[in-house]
Amino acid sequence: MKFFIDTADISAIRELYASGLCDGVTTNPSLIKKSGRDFKEVIAEICEIVDGPVSAEVIATETEVMLAEGRALAKIADNVVIKLPLTMDGLKACKIFSEEGVATNVTLCFSANQALLAAKVGASYISPFIGRLDDIHVDGLELIQEIRQIYDNYGFETEILAASIRSPLHVKECALAGADVMTAPPAVIAGLSNHPLTDKGLAAFLADAKAAGITV
Ligand code: G3P
Repeated sequence: MKFFIDTADISAIRELYASGLCDGVTTNPSLIKKSGRDFKEVIAEICEIVDGPVSAEVIATETEVMLAEGRALAKIADNVVIKLPLTMDGLKACKIFSEEGVATNVTLCFSANQALLAAKVGASYISPFIGRLDDIHVDGLELIQEIRQIYDNYGFETEILAASIRSPLHVKECALAGADVMTAPPAVIAGLSNHPLTDKGLAAFLADAKAAGITV
């Protein structure tokens, strides 16, 4: 499973990318707002750090304007992926970008039927938001499982990019369900290595090494 970082925080991206645990980056207007920086400047800087796909979201709601915005964003760097909302206008824009060979990430997906539509218009990625479904007492993981089954039934090549990941448990569940990619905030990715028994075991090994005078 590929790991994307869901952030516009440059220092966090730099740190995780150096660790080898970052295959790409996703952003959205809320994350750009949080960064307090100019949208295109941040995307350009992220693309200089990361070789993998970097999702940048349009803010238009009409196909023609989405196309113009998407083309402007695609000019920033070769690894920019145009993020489009899962609306009829977004799907139409996705179809045109697919035919032009422009990579797309269809976002704000909350149902298997929406994911089916995104695959039919050739989206590179579909982003089901599992945390936001959990928030309203709907099983977000079940959505990932359904999309996996539908895409496999018909051989769709659209990659399932599990988004709105809030916890290490979400990461494990998405991996078990066969998501191609997951995108999570830096803290969630960093937290995946934590285990209290690892900490306890290491403390014991280090204490014994000191007591035995072991040097390397
Ligand atoms: O980037 C989209 C998605 O990952 C947002 O997550 O936590 O705001 O629902 P969240």
